Amino acid sequence: MNFEHNNLKPEYIREDWEGKWKVFSWLEFVCAIPHVLFMVTTIKENGLANAAFQSWSSFTGEGDNYYIIMSGVMKDTHTYQNIKRDKEFCINFLSSDYLEECRKTIKDNNIASDEISAAGFTLEESMSISAPRIKEGFLKLECEYQWEKELCESSHNITVCGKVKHLSIAEKFAKEMTKEKYGKDSFMFNLHNPMNPFTGKSFGSGVGHIKFSQDL
Ligand SMILES: Cc1cc2nc3c(=O)[nH]c(=O)nc-3n(C[C@H](O)[C@H](O)[C@H](O)COP(=O)(O)O)c2cc1C
Repeated sequence: MNFEHNNLKPEYIREDWEGKWKVFSWLEFVCAIPHVLFMVTTIKENGLANAAFQSWSSFTGEGDNYYIIMSGVMKDTHTYQNIKRDKEFCINFLSSDYLEECRKTIKDNNIASDEISAAGFTLEESMSISAPRIKEGFLKLECEYQWEKELCESSHNITVCGKVKHLSIAEKFAKEMTKEKYGKDSFMFNLHNPMNPFTGKSFGSGVGHIKFSQDL
């Protein structure tokens, strides 16, 4: 039997922390769609590096124009404030070898520290923007802010679009064939606490990889 439902939350699907449905849609958890994870680096008002773990994004474009659409940036984050002020940011993709460093940037979210170095990463200058990059990233996209939009009125999150100005791709990743390009040393995915829609039971969060399946 399929789970068929409209967009209105069933009564038995409850918050496990207060305010959850203000930040997230219940549909996110029952749909269980994975999103690629990355670090966004910006500069704080005091000139120090800011780093934030992010997902909920898509990447697309035409010709020389390539965009990242970060569909859910929390408005109360330093990242959003920094992007609004400086109109630039860098997207850094890291393998799950660096998961602990990525998570550290959430725990040590201190205005007085360089969050790239504090997390154990190496700070690297960008080529086209002032915001720094994370050296350990296998793919880095230096972006300039284009536009933003609230998906629903007065929402907690905002959608931010950036255009890629410059890219840096690690040689190994650049040269790998499709079959070898993904997996443990490549993109990590946010498996955001999938939920059984029939009962409201949460299954727990995780990080995933792509396993090559077949030629297309
Ligand atoms: C797996 C994971 C994914 C996340 N994705 C996002 C995201 O897409 N958007 C967002 O605003 N915060 C996201 N966060 C939360 C931010 O990383 C967190 O709020 C961070 O402290 C913001 O840092 P900042 O205040 O320096 O910008 C995510 C956290 C985790 C653990």
